[in-house]
Amino acid sequence: MRRAYERAGVDVGDLGPDPVVAFGRWFADAAAAGVAEPNAMVLATADAAGAPSARTVLLKGYDGRGLRFFTNLGSAKAAELAVNPRAALVFPWHAVSRQVRVVGTVVEVGRDEVEVYFASRPRDAQLGAWASEQSTVVPSRAALDAALAEVAARFPGDVPTPPGWGGYRVVPQTWEFWAGRAGRLHDRLRYRRTEQGWTIERLAP
Ligand SMILES: Cc1cc2nc3c(=O)[nH]c(=O)nc-3n(C[C@H](O)[C@H](O)[C@H](O)COP(=O)(O)O)c2cc1C
Repeated sequence: MRRAYERAGVDVGDLGPDPVVAFGRWFADAAAAGVAEPNAMVLATADAAGAPSARTVLLKGYDGRGLRFFTNLGSAKAAELAVNPRAALVFPWHAVSRQVRVVGTVVEVGRDEVEVYFASRPRDAQLGAWASEQSTVVPSRAALDAALAEVAARFPGDVPTPPGWGGYRVVPQTWEFWAGRAGRLHDRLRYRRTEQGWTIERLAP
Protein backbone atom coordinates (compact mmCIF):
# COMPACT_ATOMS: atom_id res chain seq x y z
CA MET A 1 0.00 0.00 0.00
CA ARG A 2 2.75 2.39 0.96
CA ARG A 3 4.63 1.75 -2.25
CA ALA A 4 1.49 2.16 -4.33
CA TYR A 5 0.85 5.58 -2.83
CA GLU A 6 4.44 6.62 -3.22
CA ARG A 7 4.13 5.92 -6.91
CA ALA A 8 0.75 7.61 -7.20
CA GLY A 9 1.65 11.06 -5.83
CA VAL A 10 -0.86 13.84 -6.23
CA ASP A 11 -1.41 16.73 -8.61
CA VAL A 12 -3.82 19.62 -8.73
CA GLY A 13 -6.00 17.89 -11.30
CA ASP A 14 -6.41 14.84 -9.03
CA LEU A 15 -7.70 16.81 -6.07
CA GLY A 16 -9.95 19.35 -7.80
CA PRO A 17 -10.81 22.91 -6.81
CA ASP A 18 -12.66 22.22 -3.54
CA PRO A 19 -10.52 21.14 -0.56
CA VAL A 20 -13.52 19.68 1.28
CA VAL A 21 -14.21 17.34 -1.64
CA ALA A 22 -10.50 16.49 -1.85
CA PHE A 23 -10.41 15.76 1.88
CA GLY A 24 -13.47 13.54 1.60
CA ARG A 25 -11.83 11.50 -1.12
CA TRP A 26 -8.60 11.06 0.85
CA PHE A 27 -10.53 10.27 4.02
CA ALA A 28 -12.41 7.51 2.18
CA ASP A 29 -9.11 6.20 0.77
CA ALA A 30 -7.57 6.10 4.25
CA ALA A 31 -10.57 4.25 5.68
CA ALA A 32 -10.64 1.79 2.76
CA ALA A 33 -6.90 1.12 3.18
CA GLY A 34 -7.48 0.17 6.84
CA VAL A 35 -5.85 3.21 8.51
CA ALA A 36 -6.71 2.80 12.21
CA GLU A 37 -9.01 5.61 13.35
CA PRO A 38 -8.68 7.71 10.19
CA ASN A 39 -10.75 10.42 11.91
CA ALA A 40 -8.14 10.82 14.68
CA MET A 41 -6.48 14.19 14.20
CA VAL A 42 -3.82 16.04 16.13
CA LEU A 43 -5.17 19.38 17.32
CA ALA A 44 -2.62 22.07 18.12
CA THR A 45 -3.57 25.17 20.07
CA ALA A 46 -1.58 27.86 21.86
CA ASP A 47 -2.11 29.90 25.00
CA ALA A 48 -2.08 33.67 25.26
CA ALA A 49 1.74 33.67 25.57
CA GLY A 50 2.07 31.59 22.41
CA ALA A 51 3.06 28.37 24.20
CA PRO A 52 1.79 25.51 22.03
CA SER A 53 0.12 22.26 23.02
CA ALA A 54 -1.13 19.37 20.93
CA ARG A 55 -3.35 16.35 21.49
CA THR A 56 -5.43 13.90 19.49
CA VAL A 57 -9.18 14.40 19.10
CA LEU A 58 -11.71 12.72 16.83
CA LEU A 59 -13.15 14.44 13.80
CA LYS A 60 -16.94 14.26 14.10
CA GLY A 61 -18.13 15.82 10.90
CA TYR A 62 -16.85 18.20 8.26
CA ASP A 63 -18.36 20.33 5.53
CA GLY A 64 -17.87 23.72 3.93
CA ARG A 65 -18.13 25.35 7.36
CA GLY A 66 -15.19 23.46 8.83
CA LEU A 67 -14.07 20.42 10.81
CA ARG A 68 -15.98 19.58 13.99
CA PHE A 69 -14.83 17.92 17.20
CA PHE A 70 -16.30 17.59 20.67
CA THR A 71 -14.68 18.05 24.05
CA ASN A 72 -14.98 19.38 27.56
CA LEU A 73 -15.45 23.15 27.71
CA GLY A 74 -13.44 23.30 30.94
CA SER A 75 -10.43 21.51 29.45
CA ALA A 76 -6.99 22.96 28.85
CA LYS A 77 -7.64 23.14 25.11
CA ALA A 78 -10.91 25.01 25.70
CA ALA A 79 -9.10 27.54 27.91
CA GLU A 80 -6.54 28.06 25.15
CA LEU A 81 -9.21 28.43 22.48
CA ALA A 82 -11.01 30.99 24.65
CA VAL A 83 -7.98 33.31 24.62
CA ASN A 84 -6.64 32.34 21.20
CA PRO A 85 -9.33 30.91 18.91
CA ARG A 86 -6.94 29.50 16.32
CA ALA A 87 -5.80 25.95 15.74
CA ALA A 88 -3.89 23.61 13.49
CA LEU A 89 -4.89 20.03 12.68
CA VAL A 90 -2.86 17.10 11.37
CA PHE A 91 -4.22 13.83 10.01
CA PRO A 92 -1.16 11.53 10.11
CA TRP A 93 -2.20 8.78 7.71
CA HIS A 94 1.19 7.02 7.69
CA ALA A 95 -0.15 3.72 6.33
CA VAL A 96 -1.06 5.37 3.04
CA SER A 97 1.90 7.80 2.96
CA ARG A 98 -0.42 10.77 3.19
CA GLN A 99 -0.90 13.68 5.54
CA VAL A 100 -3.52 16.42 5.62
CA ARG A 101 -2.91 19.64 7.54
CA VAL A 102 -5.40 22.38 8.31
CA VAL A 103 -4.81 25.81 9.82
CA GLY A 104 -7.71 28.02 10.76
CA THR A 105 -9.82 29.92 13.21
CA VAL A 106 -12.06 28.15 15.71
CA VAL A 107 -15.70 28.73 16.59
CA GLU A 108 -17.84 26.98 19.17
CA VAL A 109 -20.51 24.62 17.85
CA GLY A 110 -24.09 25.70 18.60
CA ARG A 111 -25.87 24.16 21.57
CA ASP A 112 -28.53 22.42 19.44
CA GLU A 113 -25.85 20.66 17.43
CA VAL A 114 -23.98 19.66 20.60
CA GLU A 115 -27.13 18.12 22.09
CA VAL A 116 -27.96 16.17 18.95
CA TYR A 117 -24.46 14.73 18.90
CA PHE A 118 -24.33 14.00 22.64
CA ALA A 119 -27.61 12.08 22.39
CA SER A 120 -26.04 9.83 19.73
CA ARG A 121 -23.12 8.79 21.98
CA PRO A 122 -23.06 5.45 23.81
CA ARG A 123 -24.22 5.64 27.43
CA ASP A 124 -20.71 4.95 28.78
CA ALA A 125 -19.31 7.90 26.89
CA GLN A 126 -22.19 10.11 28.05
CA LEU A 127 -21.60 9.18 31.69
CA GLY A 128 -17.86 9.63 31.30
CA ALA A 129 -18.41 13.18 30.10
CA TRP A 130 -20.30 13.93 33.33
CA ALA A 131 -17.81 12.13 35.56
CA SER A 132 -14.60 13.66 34.21
CA GLU A 133 -13.58 17.27 34.70
CA GLN A 134 -11.16 16.99 31.83
CA SER A 135 -7.61 18.31 32.35
CA THR A 136 -8.00 18.77 36.12
CA VAL A 137 -5.87 16.88 38.66
CA VAL A 138 -7.66 13.91 40.24
CA PRO A 139 -6.56 12.28 43.50
CA SER A 140 -6.81 8.68 42.21
CA ARG A 141 -8.36 6.28 39.73
CA ALA A 142 -10.77 5.28 42.52
CA ALA A 143 -12.06 8.86 42.68
CA LEU A 144 -12.85 8.75 38.96
CA ASP A 145 -14.61 5.39 39.31
CA ALA A 146 -16.63 6.74 42.23
CA ALA A 147 -17.63 9.80 40.18
CA LEU A 148 -18.76 7.50 37.36
CA ALA A 149 -20.83 5.35 39.74
CA GLU A 150 -22.42 8.48 41.16
CA VAL A 151 -23.54 9.83 37.76
CA ALA A 152 -24.73 6.38 36.65
CA ALA A 153 -27.03 6.33 39.69
CA ARG A 154 -28.09 9.95 39.13
CA PHE A 155 -29.09 9.29 35.50
CA PRO A 156 -30.67 5.82 35.33
CA GLY A 157 -32.43 6.69 32.06
CA ASP A 158 -31.48 9.24 29.40
CA VAL A 159 -28.31 11.16 30.11
CA PRO A 160 -28.61 14.93 29.47
CA THR A 161 -25.79 16.89 27.86
CA PRO A 162 -23.46 18.24 30.55
CA PRO A 163 -23.43 22.04 30.48
CA GLY A 164 -19.63 21.93 30.42
CA TRP A 165 -19.40 19.73 27.35
CA GLY A 166 -19.47 21.04 23.78
CA GLY A 167 -17.82 21.22 20.44
CA TYR A 168 -15.69 23.36 18.17
CA ARG A 169 -15.36 23.84 14.47
CA VAL A 170 -12.01 24.62 12.90
CA VAL A 171 -12.68 26.96 9.98
CA PRO A 172 -9.83 26.37 7.54
CA GLN A 173 -7.72 29.21 6.19
CA THR A 174 -5.39 26.69 4.58
CA TRP A 175 -5.47 22.99 3.82
CA GLU A 176 -2.37 21.06 2.83
CA PHE A 177 -2.39 17.65 1.15
CA TRP A 178 0.92 15.79 1.37
CA ALA A 179 1.64 12.61 -0.55
CA GLY A 180 4.82 10.60 -0.07
CA ARG A 181 6.78 9.93 -3.25
CA ALA A 182 9.71 7.72 -3.99
CA GLY A 183 13.04 9.50 -3.68
CA ARG A 184 11.74 11.89 -1.01
CA LEU A 185 10.59 14.48 -3.51
CA HIS A 186 7.13 14.35 -2.01
CA ASP A 187 4.06 16.18 -3.26
CA ARG A 188 2.52 19.03 -1.27
CA LEU A 189 -0.52 20.94 -2.43
CA ARG A 190 -1.82 23.86 -0.40
CA TYR A 191 -5.26 25.44 -0.68
CA ARG A 192 -5.29 29.01 0.60
CA ARG A 193 -8.56 30.84 1.22
CA THR A 194 -8.71 34.16 -0.66
CA GLU A 195 -11.52 36.59 -1.44
CA GLN A 196 -11.86 34.93 -4.85
CA GLY A 197 -12.08 31.42 -3.41
CA TRP A 198 -9.39 28.78 -2.95
CA THR A 199 -5.95 29.35 -4.44
CA ILE A 200 -3.99 26.15 -4.99
CA GLU A 201 -0.20 26.16 -4.76
CA ARG A 202 2.45 23.45 -4.90
CA LEU A 203 4.99 23.61 -2.07
CA ALA A 204 8.51 22.26 -2.06
CA PRO A 205 8.71 19.12 0.08
C1 LIG B 1 -7.40 8.48 19.51
C2 LIG B 1 -7.78 9.55 20.52
C3 LIG B 1 -8.97 10.24 20.34
C4 LIG B 1 -9.34 11.24 21.26
N1 LIG B 1 -10.48 11.94 21.02
C5 LIG B 1 -10.82 12.96 21.85
C6 LIG B 1 -11.95 13.79 21.55
O1 LIG B 1 -12.64 13.62 20.54
N2 LIG B 1 -12.25 14.78 22.43
C7 LIG B 1 -11.50 15.01 23.55
O2 LIG B 1 -11.83 15.92 24.29
N3 LIG B 1 -10.41 14.27 23.84
C8 LIG B 1 -10.06 13.26 23.01
N4 LIG B 1 -8.93 12.51 23.28
C9 LIG B 1 -8.13 12.84 24.48
C10 LIG B 1 -7.23 14.05 24.17
O3 LIG B 1 -6.11 13.63 23.42
C11 LIG B 1 -6.75 14.78 25.44
O4 LIG B 1 -6.13 13.87 26.32
C12 LIG B 1 -7.89 15.46 26.19
O5 LIG B 1 -8.83 16.05 25.30
C13 LIG B 1 -7.36 16.53 27.14
O6 LIG B 1 -6.64 17.49 26.40
P1 LIG B 1 -6.32 18.95 26.99
O7 LIG B 1 -5.93 18.76 28.44
O8 LIG B 1 -5.22 19.48 26.14
O9 LIG B 1 -7.58 19.77 26.88
C14 LIG B 1 -8.53 11.52 22.39
C15 LIG B 1 -7.33 10.81 22.54
C16 LIG B 1 -6.96 9.85 21.63
C17 LIG B 1 -5.65 9.13 21.82
